[in-house]
Amino acid sequence: MSKTPSPKIIIAIDGYSACGKSTLAKDLSKKLGYAYIDTGAMYRAVTLFFLRNEVDFDSKTAVATALNKITIGFVNVKGKNRTLLNGEDVEEEIRKMYVSQKVSPVATISAVRRAMVAQQQKMGEQKGVILDGRDIGTVVFPKAELKLFITASPDIRTQRRFEEVQAKNQVSTFEEIKANLLERDHIDSSRADSPLKQASDAVVIDNSNLSKQEQLGMVKALVKERIKQVKKSSKR
Ligand code: CDP
Repeated sequence: MSKTPSPKIIIAIDGYSACGKSTLAKDLSKKLGYAYIDTGAMYRAVTLFFLRNEVDFDSKTAVATALNKITIGFVNVKGKNRTLLNGEDVEEEIRKMYVSQKVSPVATISAVRRAMVAQQQKMGEQKGVILDGRDIGTVVFPKAELKLFITASPDIRTQRRFEEVQAKNQVSTFEEIKANLLERDHIDSSRADSPLKQASDAVVIDNSNLSKQEQLGMVKALVKERIKQVKKSSKR
């Protein structure tokens, strides 16, 4: 008798800036064979387009016109996720400080959020996906089978981002990175539309003192448990 395949679930990972959500999401997507959707990259790509085209963030018409000209996609090149803005690989560009400094104001704009959320919901409708961001468990997929809320201390987050930035030979000081993370946390948590907050049914993981492997191990166990529950309830 053939074994029934495991049901596919949606995994929502939310949390503060640079707390290791994308590292966890990427590792998990490899282990599970799930697609990974980096929703932060989508807001960064929109921001890059707005900056390049000098779009006035405060003009509803300018924002709507610009959004109509934007197509965002993801491709996997040699096992690595790359973000495409109108077909151009912008993976490196969107991580630079000048984009990080404008992305949170852009992400407060409701028209931008509506466009991104609609695309994310479409990309995830088949399940078997992991999305990381700020509003995944609360707004994008409020019925996700597994919701995680990740935190870590500001200094640890800054140190991790500082090391990533140095590895790319970009010039940003520890202080500059910390100020940007704290500013984004503040804007993201206090905006009116879809603020960053913990979903009531999310599992909270503070990874300040966890290695990547320890965190992955914990989350793999949670995924296994949730898939078992989904299997059980679908038999009822
Ligand atoms: O990687 P990092 O933690 O620095 O940030 P990110 O995930 O690339 O997200 C960049 C910014 O996009 C955040 O600071 C938010 O302003 C915005 N964002 C959002 O509003 N909603 C999401 N679902 C994902 C990101």
